[in-house]
Amino acid sequence: MLQYVMILVCINLLCDAKTFGDSKKTLIIPLDADFGSFQWRVHNANHSYDLVAAVPGGVHTALMHNANIGDPYYRFRDVEYRWIAYENWTYYRNFSLTGEVFTRNSVVLSVAGLDTIAKVFINGVHVGSSDNMFHTHEWDIKSLAKKGLNNISISFTAAPTVALDRFNKYPYDVPPDCPPAVQNGICHMNFLRKEQCSFSWDWGPAFAPQGVWKNLSIQAFDAAVITDVLAIPLPNGDFSMWKLNVTVFFSVGALPANSSASGTISVTSPFTMVEDVPIKLTRDRPNYNILLDEVKLSEENLWWPHGFGKQSLYQLNITFRNSQFDSLSNKSIKFGFRAVELVQEDIPKSPGYSFYFKINGRSIFIKGSNWIPADAFQERITRGYLRNLLQSVVDANMHALRVWGGGVYEQDVFYEICDELGIVLWQDVMFGCAMYPTNKDFLASVQREVRLQVRRIGHHPSLLIWAGNNENEAALRQNWYGTAGNFTLYRADYIKLYIDTIGREVNAQVTNIPFVSSSPSNGKETETSGWIAGNPYDTHYGDVHYYDYATDCWDLRSFPKTRFASEYGFQSWPSLESPKKVSIQDDWDFGSNFSHHRQHHENGNLQMLNMITKHFNTSQRKNFAEAFHDMIYLTQISQGLCIKFETEHYRRLQSLIESGEGHCMGALYWQLNDIWQAPTWASIEYGGNWKMLHYFAKDFFAPILASGKEEDGQLYVYSITDARDLNDVTMK
Ligand SMILES: *[C@@H]1O[C@H](CO)[C@@H](O)[C@H](O)[C@H]1NC(C)=O
Ligand SMILES: *[C@@H]1O[C@H](CO)[C@@H](O)[C@H](O)[C@H]1NC(C)=O
Ligand SMILES: *[C@@H]1O[C@H](CO)[C@@H](O)[C@H](O)[C@H]1NC(C)=O
Ligand SMILES: *[C@@H]1O[C@H](CO)[C@@H](O)[C@H](O)[C@H]1NC(C)=O
Ligand SMILES: *[C@@H]1O[C@H](CO)[C@@H](O)[C@H](O)[C@H]1NC(C)=O
Ligand SMILES: *[C@@H]1O[C@H](CO)[C@@H](O)[C@H](O)[C@H]1NC(C)=O
Ligand SMILES: *[C@@H]1O[C@H](CO)[C@@H](O)[C@H](O)[C@H]1NC(C)=O
Ligand SMILES: *[C@@H]1O[C@H](CO)[C@@H](O)[C@H](O)[C@H]1NC(C)=O
Ligand SMILES: *[C@@H]1O[C@H](CO)[C@@H](O)[C@H](O)[C@H]1NC(C)=O
Ligand SMILES: *[C@@H]1O[C@H](CO)[C@@H](O)[C@H](O)[C@H]1NC(C)=O
Ligand SMILES: *[C@@H]1O[C@H](CO)[C@@H](O)[C@H](O)[C@H]1NC(C)=O
Ligand SMILES: *[C@@H]1O[C@H](CO)[C@@H](O)[C@H](O)[C@H]1NC(C)=O
Repeated sequence: MLQYVMILVCINLLCDAKTFGDSKKTLIIPLDADFGSFQWRVHNANHSYDLVAAVPGGVHTALMHNANIGDPYYRFRDVEYRWIAYENWTYYRNFSLTGEVFTRNSVVLSVAGLDTIAKVFINGVHVGSSDNMFHTHEWDIKSLAKKGLNNISISFTAAPTVALDRFNKYPYDVPPDCPPAVQNGICHMNFLRKEQCSFSWDWGPAFAPQGVWKNLSIQAFDAAVITDVLAIPLPNGDFSMWKLNVTVFFSVGALPANSSASGTISVTSPFTMVEDVPIKLTRDRPNYNILLDEVKLSEENLWWPHGFGKQSLYQLNITFRNSQFDSLSNKSIKFGFRAVELVQEDIPKSPGYSFYFKINGRSIFIKGSNWIPADAFQERITRGYLRNLLQSVVDANMHALRVWGGGVYEQDVFYEICDELGIVLWQDVMFGCAMYPTNKDFLASVQREVRLQVRRIGHHPSLLIWAGNNENEAALRQNWYGTAGNFTLYRADYIKLYIDTIGREVNAQVTNIPFVSSSPSNGKETETSGWIAGNPYDTHYGDVHYYDYATDCWDLRSFPKTRFASEYGFQSWPSLESPKKVSIQDDWDFGSNFSHHRQHHENGNLQMLNMITKHFNTSQRKNFAEAFHDMIYLTQISQGLCIKFETEHYRRLQSLIESGEGHCMGALYWQLNDIWQAPTWASIEYGGNWKMLHYFAKDFFAPILASGKEEDGQLYVYSITDARDLNDVTMK
């Protein structure tokens, strides 16, 4: 600390002598390295494995790269390779630093994400710990690092071991203790802030990866560095005049608590320019907020979902200069002018409230599906693969995805592509299908997680709404996990977590998009019913998730007349080419061990067969593999038709009220993509190939649709359109 103050004083004296223009930028020493560079190694506790690693990356892909293991997706290896998740792995490498690094006031280790329980050491000295995969870290290492050779090691403790330990120590049960046996999963995932589906899901495997899943670097700077920028567009009543509320977040590194970093900030957009405003940053308030002047915009300047207008994006440049240290930090983001309103108001002839979105003042029926992590090993998800999957969304006439709460807050590139393509996002906070602990440490960890994630992605115009969790209100109300005997206890926990912690934090950060406590929920009615509604699936309020595999899906009467269908679906098998890559010929049968093993939904294969036999002749001819091939085809046709009927049902209800229900304004089927090769609800199989359903989706989501419905021996034909008014449409 003393040293810091001395530098400050002496440079102060030299201030006038400095020439401006070649300001010192932050020195960034990346510690990321691919396999080919041989920089990183990873070993288990007794060093029986000690191998070349990549950062970002995980242990499984390192073992694969070194041919210690085969493809983890092959046959039964999700279970055979379970030992990997139970080992404690350590990543380590050397790095060298120049003397210049130490001329800066702050030298920090900047960590974008560790998965999950880890201690970090520089030259053998502990610098920090992580126990939340969704946290970033910045640790002061100036006094530990030295000029020349240094080393870093990151010691992970096996996530399943920590989860069990926390479960054992918790004063009461926080169910579900384990996933259903059919998932071959790992227990107590709810005790960790880790991708929840990494301990298994009803469509995915349990690998519980360990590793450095995001970038890692050393950053050296003098005054402050811009980390995040939130740009919130604020329109006037008719969306012709817009202000931009810009908040810039800084890292102030080793700035002492009772000191401040001062400088000037410039904010430039194509519409406005604010130059050299003096600002003062402190450790407690390392941010700066400015409301940019109102500008007049035309519809062409606004950001619209795909199919409704342009996706106009603009650059916002922020520059921070500190003359004392002659230092500079700048950052550029892309933002869009779009406003979201969630309309929940009385509807004539229907009790309850509407639940629909207005984007830039226009009511829009939301068409899309649900997004899950695109791979069990995040490091394998490339920009190209994301673009391929997201392009498939708009190619099938969709403009929306729900980023489901059991996965991860997606990488920046995901949101950037959604901005470009016009895909609006229902963004869950990462909690799903469980009760959760609410001890002090857990809540503090979650609060920080939400704050960091909202700051990171909050400027993307693709964001439509935040939701606190996936299905946890419904789970508590309907006693999925045996909580009924202690309902009051778990409800209090629920409110502490989703309302008092998450809801409060989201609302404190983002002022321009809505927040709902859960999906499904009754929207604003939920608060009136004490946050755990009598029926969270009430068709008169909010959104609904709906699944029924027993009733014939050709019988349209079975579908709920909801305001917003945020999940509904039916399973199918991926085309044989997909499982072929990870199986042998003996596996290619509905009755095989492999077929049972890959099916993580109880009775899933049987349910598919039952639905098929309601309408198709399944009598077996040909040999084994051909019969499997045919059956896969039928599961896909059956799935495609079921979801076509259900989706068209929701679209028809857009402007209709039938017996007090209807006015449906959104259809997001479950699910878009796959995490591995398995029978699931997906419309796109692992790797990116479209299943039959995705081709159906292109039709049933067409902007203009004729949809038939038979009732009491009469055939009704409905015309459905996304067009603003029917003058845009020619009828024949
Ligand atoms: C190292 O540990 C693993 C399990 O953690 C064990 O299977 C193996 O036998 C050990 N190897 C040695 C050489 O001790
Ligand atoms: C991993 O670390 C935990 C916590 O220190 C310990 O209980 C466990 O035995 C270790 N496992 C292995 C395989 O070394
Ligand atoms: C790091 O440097 C030390 C000292 O030169 C050397 O012994 C060690 O092998 C290096 N470690 C790695 C992982 O390269
Ligand atoms: C890392 O540096 C410390 C301190 O110089 C040293 O004791 C330790 O052996 C080094 N570790 C590795 C793996 O090189
Ligand atoms: C992570 O680091 C790599 C290599 O240093 C770089 O190419 C990439 O852009 C970084 N990613 C992010 C999100 O900063
Ligand atoms: C702008 O954002 C800041 C920080 O979130 C907030 O305090 C302020 O109320 C916002 N201003 C307007 C006009 O929305
Ligand atoms: C900062 O606070 C510490 C103790 O709180 C004090 O000793 C020190 O003099 C203060 N430094 C300045 C620059 O005010
Ligand atoms: C922002 O900075 C980039 C890169 O320096 C530049 O190309 C662009 O014109 C700038 N945009 C604005 C609005 O100043
Ligand atoms: C940051 O500033 C440097 C130096 O003035 C400039 O070359 C660069 O384009 C700027 N980058 C952004 C993103 O504004
Ligand atoms: C309620 O929780 C207590 C511990 O707080 C436990 O002893 C009791 O068994 C629970 N009751 C039910 C019905 O789950
Ligand atoms: C199927 O699994 C069972 C139980 O694990 C095993 O006994 C049997 O040999 C397996 N059959 C084949 C064909 O692999
Ligand atoms: C089903 O197909 C088989 C083979 O083509 C045929 O023999 C049988 O009659 C068909 N069954 C029905 C009910 O059509």
